[in-house]
Amino acid sequence: MTLSARNACWNAGGEAIVRDVSLDVRSGEFLGIIGPNGSGKTSLMMMLSGIRKPKAGEIFMGDRPIRSLDRRALSKSVALVEQQAETGERITARQAVELGRTPYLGAFTPWSSADDAIVDAALANVDMTHLAGRLWHTLSGGERQRLHIGRALAQQPEILLLDEPTNHLDIAHQIGLLDLVRRQRLTVVAALHDLNHAAMFCDRIAVMKGGRLVALGTPREVLTAECIRDVFGVEVEVEHGGGGDCFIRYRATTMGRGSSWMTDETPKAIRAGVS
Ligand SMILES: Nc1ncnc2c1ncn2[C@@H]1O[C@H](COP(=O)(O)OP(=O)(O)O)[C@@H](O)[C@H]1O
Ligand SMILES: [Mg+2]
Repeated sequence: MTLSARNACWNAGGEAIVRDVSLDVRSGEFLGIIGPNGSGKTSLMMMLSGIRKPKAGEIFMGDRPIRSLDRRALSKSVALVEQQAETGERITARQAVELGRTPYLGAFTPWSSADDAIVDAALANVDMTHLAGRLWHTLSGGERQRLHIGRALAQQPEILLLDEPTNHLDIAHQIGLLDLVRRQRLTVVAALHDLNHAAMFCDRIAVMKGGRLVALGTPREVLTAECIRDVFGVEVEVEHGGGGDCFIRYRATTMGRGSSWMTDETPKAIRAGVS
């Protein structure tokens, strides 16, 4: 099933946040969304998930506008792991994953052993079986993030939307989590910050800047020094490997935004990018 945005727009507080974005998510691909903070990645993902309705334009699942699908039907096709997904409830790791079965339950379809089996498989998939009985608030950031993915897998979606899934994880857990997601063989759309992770894991990358989709293609097509300079205001060298892979080496940092690290030698594009 293809998920697509057609001229999708979102406004908030009188500002255009997502401007006229059109893209197709291909069945089975891992599509990354990159772009600076505030470029509209989360807003776009909220529209793709059906949580936010576009102010103009349309999101389609196959050839059907997703606003014509009811919430429950949509939840069986699309699962979203939000950027700041948290729970204040006193629940166990297993109960957090069980929440993924919600769209399948109803008055005539109570919880069954089939649901237990799906939750068991999801816990095993994210390597959390041994912690299933632990209370949520006693788990580390990485363990919680794995459970969020487990909950989304228990939802048995065709399309998994992940908003900055590696935030707050150490490097081993970042790589482990992206690898785990890729091994699911689902259609995945993930907003990512690390350009090298995007290069490693994505089939294609969408680049957002100021609410617009400014590039869409394979990592090799999109992750050019020119594009990264234009979008992020950072100087890089891009090294290409044999199998179409690429590696980004950062030449400068914008850590000291607007401060003393910039000299007259600082490339104009960087100065423009951080001003
Ligand atoms: N509900 C809202 N009301 C006002 N401004 C919003 C709202 N949602 C997002 N924004 C603004 O829209 C911009 C894009 O936000 P977001 O989609 O979260 O970008 P990203 O995920 O790329 O950081 C930000 O400047 C943010 O403050
Ligand atoms: Mg965001």
